[in-house]
Amino acid sequence: MRFSAILFLLLVSICAGLGSAGAARYTSKTVLDGAHGDRQLLPKSCRACHRGMAMAIRGEEAVCFRCHGSQSNREQMIRSGALTQEARLENIEREFQKPYRHPVEKSRGVHHPQERLPEEQVNAARHVECVDCHHPHLVDNDQPYRGLYGRRVGNLRGAIENEYEVCYRCHAESANLPIGSTNKHAEFAPTNKSYHPVEAEGRNLYVISLLSPYNERQEKPGEISRLTCGDCHGSDDPTGPQGPHGSNYAGLLKKNYDTSDERPESRFAYELCYSCHDRTSILSNESFPYHALHIQGNSAKNLPGTSCHTCHDAHGSSQYQYLIRFNEDVVAPNADGKREFKATGVGSRHGSCLLNCHGVEHNPLSY
Ligand code: HEC
Ligand code: HEC
Ligand code: HEC
Ligand code: HEC
Ligand code: HEC
Ligand code: HEC
Ligand code: HEC
Repeated sequence: MRFSAILFLLLVSICAGLGSAGAARYTSKTVLDGAHGDRQLLPKSCRACHRGMAMAIRGEEAVCFRCHGSQSNREQMIRSGALTQEARLENIEREFQKPYRHPVEKSRGVHHPQERLPEEQVNAARHVECVDCHHPHLVDNDQPYRGLYGRRVGNLRGAIENEYEVCYRCHAESANLPIGSTNKHAEFAPTNKSYHPVEAEGRNLYVISLLSPYNERQEKPGEISRLTCGDCHGSDDPTGPQGPHGSNYAGLLKKNYDTSDERPESRFAYELCYSCHDRTSILSNESFPYHALHIQGNSAKNLPGTSCHTCHDAHGSSQYQYLIRFNEDVVAPNADGKREFKATGVGSRHGSCLLNCHGVEHNPLSY
């Protein structure tokens, strides 16, 4: 196996050397095509990553950080002639040093180029490497998934077109999801009662709090009604390198989102939600008439405020409209053993709750 790979490398590098005199943007199209095939940026082609004859490369991040890491790493690559000054590269390594990140440094030798994802073995080690999201030979500028394949449907494996298909390789039907982690494919399914519009346009025709450029319905050209995972997950630094690499905010989120109970409300506490949903609209009860009461609390009655997370799921809800999903660590069943939300019709702005929260019995309480 290793021997044939060496032969393959030899063959292809010879062909590449003969075939292109260096100026063409794409050399050796069959193996290397895209940003990494640009000989004006990577004059040593294969050898920039595959040093000498060592093909025993397993997609570990260290190879990538030689050029996508610190300035001093890059200067070393430039001195060795494997990279030119023209390349516009940023320090991605710094993103992976943040507290919430894709743990590329944790798995060593787990990824395999011929692996099949989603994982089917329950006890298989979890892993993620740069090459799980970027094909090292075919990635291109602004086409981060070029060359990757999605979920197998029958005998077919379609090329990945949407970001969420990449994510579903590890965060959906994987048999080895960690405890507490859920199937994102199930949460965003367009057959759900409600969902943030990642896979399809949303179900709610009048989300009154939405800020521009989003709109409840596409009415004017240029209005956006769909989201990507990357609209919420990614770097906390809007001017740094983009992508779901690392963040200083929990959940690898671009903005802060407090999920705990008994918290005072502030713009920062729920900054993620308020970046698309107008804080003034939410707190002036334009939709749910008791939003402010629950989010800010009632000091006269000694009731603390609670997070959006207590009532809403940020992804989707198979059970209820309006992304309602009660956080069972906070919301208890009522005296009749019920923990339910009942919407009255669709978009009527009326409904009722059967539950018990902070000792307040809802059996039911209606709005
Ligand atoms: C930007 C870095 C980079 C360049 C340039 C590069 N490779 Fe690779 N190559 C990798 C990485 C990383 C892997 C491991 C991929 C994985 O594990 O999924 C790999 C894997 C391979 C494999 C094994 C693939 C498999 O499916 O088993 C071969 C063969 C190979 N490269 C040949 C080449 C040849 C030939 C060239 C030049 C035409 C080249 N590579 C250029 C980074 C590179
Ligand atoms: C020898 C240097 C070098 C190595 C090693 C290298 N890259 Fe690159 N990479 C580049 C250059 C140069 C570009 C194109 C930058 C430009 O357009 O100026 C690039 C572009 C990219 C892009 C597209 C960026 C964009 O702007 O959209 C991604 C993604 C990427 N590389 C990922 C990787 C991964 C993953 C690895 C490790 C398997 C890796 N690179 C290893 C030099 C390198
Ligand atoms: C090759 C597998 C793989 C792929 C593909 C992948 N992830 Fe992950 N992701 C992981 C692993 C491993 C972790 C660590 C926790 C775990 O095991 O789930 C993780 C963690 C996360 C976390 C939680 C971070 C935290 O600190 O709480 C988020 C959010 C996340 N991934 C989002 C995404 C998104 C968005 C995509 C698609 C762009 C994606 N992932 C693609 C493997 C993957
Ligand atoms: C509207 C914003 C938003 C979008 C869009 C979004 N997420 Fe999340 N995601 C969150 C928030 C907030 C959390 C943390 C709190 C929670 O778990 O509800 C989270 C948590 C996660 C986690 C960690 C919890 C777990 O179950 O492992 C993963 C993984 C994740 N999201 C993956 C994804 C993927 C994959 C997509 C796209 C298919 C996506 N998210 C789209 C807001 C979002
Ligand atoms: C979980 C999937 C995932 C992993 C793991 C991952 N990336 Fe990315 N990366 C992305 C996505 C998605 C984007 C595109 C973000 C965008 O354009 O908004 C991206 C963008 C990039 C870019 C372009 C940044 C920019 O601002 O244009 C580079 C370079 C890059 N990644 C390199 C890497 C390297 C190197 C690693 C490993 C150390 C890595 N990525 C690991 C998903 C991933
Ligand atoms: C006590 C439970 C509860 C909490 C806490 C809560 N909500 Fe709601 N929210 C609801 C209910 C119930 C509805 C449905 C109202 C209706 O019938 O239209 C709703 C509707 C919404 C809607 C859709 C209508 C609109 O206003 O555009 C958004 C967006 C929303 N909530 C955002 C938030 C945010 C952001 C937070 C935290 C800052 C939050 N909610 C906290 C219960 C809650
Ligand atoms: C990147 C923008 C963005 C962010 C961030 C965001 N939302 Fe939304 N949200 C939307 C869009 C777009 C819709 C409209 C979906 C539709 O048309 O049904 C929506 C709809 C909703 C709805 C109504 C869904 C329904 O079917 O009735 C609720 C509730 C909601 N969001 C709550 C939240 C909460 C809570 C957060 C913070 C965790 C949040 N959103 C963060 C863009 C966002």
